[in-house]
Amino acid sequence: MKRTAIYPGSFDPPTNGHLDVIKRALNIFDRLIVAVIVNTSKETLFTIKEREEMLLEIYGGRKNIEITSFDGLLVDYAINVGARTIIRGLRAVSDFEYEFQMALMNRRLNPDIQSVYLMPAPEFTYLSSSIVKEVHSLGGDVSKIVSPGVVKCLDSKSSRS
Ligand code: PNS
Repeated sequence: MKRTAIYPGSFDPPTNGHLDVIKRALNIFDRLIVAVIVNTSKETLFTIKEREEMLLEIYGGRKNIEITSFDGLLVDYAINVGARTIIRGLRAVSDFEYEFQMALMNRRLNPDIQSVYLMPAPEFTYLSSSIVKEVHSLGGDVSKIVSPGVVKCLDSKSSRS
């Protein structure tokens, strides 16, 4: 039986930290569903379609990765796509409180689903989508911390504004 996990997030935009977590998850699981949340409480720079397309550009054609989007409860969506494991990245202690709350709430909602936390490589521990957007919007170089397709999407947003 295939071991399937789901990696949910805003991915606004995906960073090399996200990609590092995906790489690590694929060392453990046979199939990974990367699930972009449609309606996040955070205001997003990129539309749901753009966020999915950025991930598809990186992973399109990979048999073991599916790029999807979801709305509503994560645990319900996970069951619908056959995943019993939620993957999240844990960068620093500051992530812990939020992640702990989410993991326990998800467990309450569905005790059959486990949350698994993966630590990205140390060079990515300071990275977040927000810091990437801020640095890029101020003219800083983000080409070493996001993929080339993401740089293009960031460029296209700033040239329109
Ligand atoms: O990348 P993010 O913004 O930290 O991801 C947060 C996400 C998408 C994992 C979280 O907001 C989520 O799971 N939302 C779906 C709604 C839900 O199930 N909420 C209850 C979880 S405690």
